[in-house]
Amino acid sequence: MTSINSPTDDEKQDFYQQLDPVSLAPLWEVMKGLVAPEPNNNAVPFAWKYDEIRPLLMASGALLTAEEAERRVLVFENPSFQGQSKINATLYAGIQLILPGETAPSHKHTAGALRFVLESNGGYTSVDGERTTMHRGDLVITPNGTFHDHGHDGEGPVIWVDGLDVPIVNYFQCGFSAQLDADRQTLTKKEGYSTALFGSGMLPLEPKSPFGSTSPIFSYPYARAREALLAIEQSEGPNPHWGYVLKYANPLDGGWIMPTMAAWLSYLSDSMSTQLYRATDNQVLVVSEGSVRVDIAGEIFELKQNDVMALPGWVWRRFEAHENTVLFFFSDRSAQEKLGIWREQGQ
Ligand SMILES: [Fe+2]
Repeated sequence: MTSINSPTDDEKQDFYQQLDPVSLAPLWEVMKGLVAPEPNNNAVPFAWKYDEIRPLLMASGALLTAEEAERRVLVFENPSFQGQSKINATLYAGIQLILPGETAPSHKHTAGALRFVLESNGGYTSVDGERTTMHRGDLVITPNGTFHDHGHDGEGPVIWVDGLDVPIVNYFQCGFSAQLDADRQTLTKKEGYSTALFGSGMLPLEPKSPFGSTSPIFSYPYARAREALLAIEQSEGPNPHWGYVLKYANPLDGGWIMPTMAAWLSYLSDSMSTQLYRATDNQVLVVSEGSVRVDIAGEIFELKQNDVMALPGWVWRRFEAHENTVLFFFSDRSAQEKLGIWREQGQ
């Protein structure tokens, strides 16, 4: 029953119409949606099978010229975000093909990028005057604002998974980009220079990253990462949620490789299963070796080598390896931690 002081819906609507012209809105109508009791992630868990992706990627090789190689990328688009070039709420991911003799012209942008290499015999990336050769499983990062170009002097296709923080940059609407006049940047340093300076367990006397808050190492070779992962198994037990796990680190502060994106590598030996876990970061998984069952909120995904999966934040998941398996992950955890909003929960 409406008391004499209770406004009717019509009275409320009349009031709202007075707010419209002066660009005001009633918080009480939207409060629940604005401040949810817990994350309500819009993305859905989704897996892309390499057996299906690769033929389509190779078909794209005939459709685009070498000059267009920079854009020869198939975007992993979360079914929840059709047309938005997002694999999950905050990250872009794609799969890129470079054919022998091609160059992806040098350019720079505010978005930071990482590449996880799936196939490469002679592919390379140049960053800030230094070239790094890309091998299967290597992680190569291109820090925000640095000129980078890719090329391929070897044989067969070069294929990698791209991860970029484009949706984050675009959320802040702070993105810049530019092309270099030349296709390839001038190389001013010998290959391996940045690893020698920052990646051998030694550091310069006055260490300073040329890339600001991004790691000064832009290539993390798989051979070394894998060797380290397998070595720790001999001395300690696995992490209950990740198996044997190491993060890709910025050697200057021990933090994540990039201010927006985190990356880590996980090893699950044959038949190993993990306990239920969830965290607020939005993750992407690439199977580097082996095969794994991912149970995410009761939905089962069977993944093999080179398969890619979107793991939305705050959804319970566990992994079960069918054989010795290495998993590569990246996520927006780095950004969430810096903003003080990251949270995890495990059983
Ligand atoms: Fe780029």
